[in-house]
Amino acid sequence: MFSLTPVLVAVVCVLIAWIFKNADGNMERRKGETRARTKAQPWVDEDLKDSSDLHPVEEDADDWQDSEESVDHIPFSHTRYPEKEMVKRSQEFYELLNKRRSVRFISNEQVPMEVIDNVIKAAGTAPSGAHTEPWTFVVVKDLDVKHKIREIIEEEEEINYLKRMGRQWVTDLKKLRTNWIKEYLDTAPVLILIFKQVHGFAANGKRKVHYYNEISVSISCGILLAALQNAGLVTVTTTPLNCGPRLRVLLGRPANEKLLMLLPVGYPSEEATVPDLTRKPLDQIMVTV
Ligand SMILES: Cc1cc2nc3c(=O)[nH]c(=O)nc-3n(C[C@H](O)[C@H](O)[C@H](O)COP(=O)(O)O)c2cc1C
Repeated sequence: MFSLTPVLVAVVCVLIAWIFKNADGNMERRKGETRARTKAQPWVDEDLKDSSDLHPVEEDADDWQDSEESVDHIPFSHTRYPEKEMVKRSQEFYELLNKRRSVRFISNEQVPMEVIDNVIKAAGTAPSGAHTEPWTFVVVKDLDVKHKIREIIEEEEEINYLKRMGRQWVTDLKKLRTNWIKEYLDTAPVLILIFKQVHGFAANGKRKVHYYNEISVSISCGILLAALQNAGLVTVTTTPLNCGPRLRVLLGRPANEKLLMLLPVGYPSEEATVPDLTRKPLDQIMVTV
């Protein structure tokens, strides 16, 4: 019995060492997970990330503001239509939007600025993560500024087409007959540059989180496109690759704003053409479960 004691002691020691080692490992893993959680920002979308910012800002956890705002809750006001009218309205809305095309030939005829105000007001009704409204719509009418925008975009787009985009992308675009020459940037009477605010600022100057800012701004762009179509104006959705930082600086926008989209807006020019594209039918885009 006594001769077994050293063996028992050894076993107990090994057991204690194993327990401690495991506890240590778990602790490290938990620390790692916490670190990852603090670092992960699931509301920041990765796809249009523009890492070529001219003035990257260092982040500090103390710069961030917790939201303490409270709002009253009020009765919801709703307009309900008879079913027949619902079908008619939805059909008409679809038919209106089905006529929307990306138009790359835009005349220099002026458009009523009240219409521009209204379509941007419509875009501003979009839902946004935690109602942060993380959008800025920069409306450019000035001929010189439009031309400077064109110069920046054509310079970058030439490099995009020749070097950055790759053969597959350039081949996929062939049917659209697009290239780096963007005459519409001069001719369109209005350019709307839509910026996503990657964070905001609270009244005390601290930074405010803008959850899902890219999705929110993209939804508002969709509404803007629908509103332009409804008003009888044309545009083409453009996402000028690698131009964001230079355009932001040209337009005097702050570093928390990143260019998401540029919409030249106006009437189609008389000789405007569009590629003869078809859209997928309902049974290819809808799955009912
Ligand atoms: C996110 C996005 C980016 C786009 N970028 C460009 C662009 O940089 N230049 C361009 O000429 N068209 C661009 N387009 C327009 C598409 O080519 C066009 O929507 C597509 O060919 C379908 O044509 P439609 O808009 O007439 O239905 C873009 C569209 C989307 C949705």
